[in-house]
Amino acid sequence: MENIPAHVAIILDGNGRWAKKRGLPRTAGHAAGAKNVETITIAASNLGIRYLTLYAFSTENWKRSVEEVSTIMSLLAKYLLRCRDLAMENNIRVTFIGDLSGLDEKLHATCDSVREETAGNTGMTLTIALNYGGRDEIVRALNRLLASGERGPVTEEGFASYLDTAGQPYPDLMIRTSGEERISNFLPWQLCYSEFYFTDTAWPDFSPEELEKACEAYASRDRRFGGVK
Ligand code: FPP
Repeated sequence: MENIPAHVAIILDGNGRWAKKRGLPRTAGHAAGAKNVETITIAASNLGIRYLTLYAFSTENWKRSVEEVSTIMSLLAKYLLRCRDLAMENNIRVTFIGDLSGLDEKLHATCDSVREETAGNTGMTLTIALNYGGRDEIVRALNRLLASGERGPVTEEGFASYLDTAGQPYPDLMIRTSGEERISNFLPWQLCYSEFYFTDTAWPDFSPEELEKACEAYASRDRRFGGVK
């Protein structure tokens, strides 16, 4: 495929509705969604995507019931280890964005060890957004900048170097599954010039074929970055 997006960011939405439609508890939808993370990670790596960023848990998701939050956290603990094995088999580097200090200590330690173990891999970079909120990221970046003692004037590039995503290119394509058409506090700084692709398919059903379809749609877009052609 020509003109593959180098960086694809995905809002994994619709696990709850997927389960409801099947008469299953919401937690069953999250289990199916977590499994699909493996499928789509491999598919993205095979397509030649260099960076894949997945919105797994937002700073706002804590508002859900204790039962649902604890199921998502257990799934994360389990699937992060599976992601590590998958990453080692496929030369994928795993990184995280978000405020990991707000997570359970054991889960935080798992994130650190998965990041360290896969740090030497040179293929696709899989970034998992965990306890991530875009506004929270910007405020944390600002506080880091102030704590560094750096004095102004601050440039866009200079400020971006304090973001969780420092060193990564901005997403070329942002996909949101399950029908909603908003960014929900996901990468507000980084998505300024990204192409958006929305699909009604719920995340557990989002297939490698649909990822290819989204990449084909991206390839046909005319990106001008505010200029003219
Ligand atoms: C959105 O569906 C999904 C979530 C908030 C949680 C997704 C997290 C996982 C599946 C774990 C991922 C695992 C790794 C390793 C990245 P929703 O509950 O908002 O669905 P709804 O809008 O239909 O209710």
